[in-house]
Amino acid sequence: MNNLETAPVRVGVIGVGFMGRQHVDFIRANPDAELAAVADPVAASDAFACPTYPDAGAMLESADLDAVIIANPNALHVDTAIECLTAGVAVLLEKPVAVDYAEALRLVDAVDRLHGRLLVGHHRRHHPAVARARAAIGAGEIGPLVAVSGLWSARKEDAYFTDTPWHRQRGAGVMLINLVHDLDLLRHLCGEVTEVHAMVSSHTRNLDVEDTASVNLRFDNGAVGSFLASDAGVSPWGWDQSTEDTLEFPFLPDGSAYQFVGTRGALSVPNLAKYSYDPSVSADWHSPLSRSYLQVPPAGSFHRQLAHFLEVVRGNAAPLVSAADAAGTLALVEAAALSAQRGVTVDVARFRVSRSGDLPL
Ligand SMILES: NC(=O)c1ccc[n+]([C@@H]2O[C@H](COP(=O)([O-])OP(=O)(O)OC[C@H]3O[C@@H](n4cnc5c(N)ncnc54)[C@H](O)[C@@H]3O)[C@@H](O)[C@H]2O)c1
Repeated sequence: MNNLETAPVRVGVIGVGFMGRQHVDFIRANPDAELAAVADPVAASDAFACPTYPDAGAMLESADLDAVIIANPNALHVDTAIECLTAGVAVLLEKPVAVDYAEALRLVDAVDRLHGRLLVGHHRRHHPAVARARAAIGAGEIGPLVAVSGLWSARKEDAYFTDTPWHRQRGAGVMLINLVHDLDLLRHLCGEVTEVHAMVSSHTRNLDVEDTASVNLRFDNGAVGSFLASDAGVSPWGWDQSTEDTLEFPFLPDGSAYQFVGTRGALSVPNLAKYSYDPSVSADWHSPLSRSYLQVPPAGSFHRQLAHFLEVVRGNAAPLVSAADAAGTLALVEAAALSAQRGVTVDVARFRVSRSGDLPL
């Protein structure tokens, strides 16, 4: 291990597919980090200009690492993360933290037991627009929150499913791959969800996993919300189309993924358009509504996520998204799936107790 205060942090990447290769590029772009090794059973030994191993175990044994980024298939996340924490390296673990809530709790327990440094890759939380929106909503800039609505829909190419079997199997699907990001952000921006009611469909792609989900939410603060996610339908709406985080998506400036509605104004995110009445007059739906934009410096989520992770590795920061926090998001996704399966509204707190304590729901 390095002297972490002076030398670049030595990072290994586990899983160098679509997402892992992007992490390799982010590491290479950061002078405080060094790509020390990669582990992937199918990676060519000369593809990354660093030692390459067939799996995490071989890499941990041979490479002198400070940290790893885990971007392997979802079902491997928890075992791989525990293996790395046991070896004493810090972990940035891609989302979803696990494929079910019980597995996520196993990781939470391991992080506590091993005093592990672990950040979960809900990268959107690192975007400056999210911090600004959270501050605006928290400070009541649009009044008490009444409701929120949002959408993420993009048509993935058929090869995404045909070429990569795990993308069409249990543990994937639009809820665990995509909606998990949105529900995580809604928890971050609006607080805990108390009730969820969902409908899902696999009608368009006809796979074992769902391609579309519609979710209704009740938040602890009394607000209600709805979110629609689909990997089968074309749309310009969603986080990825409204930011320049992932260059594979067409970028539509002034795009919106979430609309927050308060008693004195409204806010769309991530373009941070704020709609409000003139505060000097008593205003209602007949009054003119003006639009202004909250200001934030331009910055991408992934670069900021890596910079934050390096501070977590050095012991200078607590993870912005801990295993326990991400487990809360996963509980919500799983509660939504259960709601869809049974056709009932699910009480999320009760669901968490039932899963962690093995009580009947
Ligand atoms: N944060 C984001 O926006 C985002 C975007 C895409 C994917 N992801 C996440 O990243 C992870 C990877 O997704 P992807 O789309 O890159 O998948 P992928 O299938 O393209 O890549 C996974 C890689 O893991 C490798 N792998 C399989 N078994 C392994 C093992 N035992 N050890 C090491 N490597 C192994 C595979 O060979 C493959 O190269 C998933 O958890 C996914 O949810 C996150």
